[in-house]
Amino acid sequence: DRSIKIAPSILSADFANFGQEIQAIETQGADWVHVDVMDGHFVPNLTFGPPAVKAFRPHVKTVMDVHLMISPVDPYIQAYADAGADVLTAHVEAGPHSHRTLQAIRATGMKAGIALNPGTPAEAVEHLLDLTDLVCVMTVNPGFGGQKFIDMTAKVRRLRQMIGDRPVHIEIDGGVDPSTAPLVAAAGADVLVAGSAVFKGGSVSNPSVYGDNIRAV
Ligand code: DX5
Ligand code: ZN
Repeated sequence: DRSIKIAPSILSADFANFGQEIQAIETQGADWVHVDVMDGHFVPNLTFGPPAVKAFRPHVKTVMDVHLMISPVDPYIQAYADAGADVLTAHVEAGPHSHRTLQAIRATGMKAGIALNPGTPAEAVEHLLDLTDLVCVMTVNPGFGGQKFIDMTAKVRRLRQMIGDRPVHIEIDGGVDPSTAPLVAAAGADVLVAGSAVFKGGSVSNPSVYGDNIRAV
């Protein structure tokens, strides 16, 4: 299914009201809920661990898309499966054995994603595509919401070509708003993460991000 999906990142939500925030974005049309896990080591920020993700689970009626910005990944895969993640994405830069990591994620029954930092070429995941359900193209350096969009449309086009007819999503993460979304969608992305564009001022106050402009290809 290549229709455009919007995945609001709860990194920009009100941290004292996750249940209500998740309900609000789903009511307003979120297709997936994006959960940013940071370890203060792979990226210079700290967010949630498995117990928090488990607490989000009953509130998420759609797809819980968990983006791991942690290293190492493998010791925590089962904990995120037990917490109820539907999609689990690891960074290709997080360690030398992404192939093993993707196999281990799929072995739990979760969908497996692989993320690329802005400085990492599309070719870094070329030999992983048969093990991958989603490639996440970072359009900011990971660690914080609200950063400026870095244009990765050439990488997205290259990836779409490499993926061919495999059923692999291309997700864009960072700086997505109604002006940048159409660029990446036209290049071949089909899952758009949006944090600050959705949760302006700590709550869901910009439903226009769900408008036709952001979904238009
Ligand atoms: C960045 C995170 C993103 C972030 C996006 O490290 O992976 O998901 O929350 O936030 P915005 O949309 O504000 O760039
Ligand atoms: Zn993310």
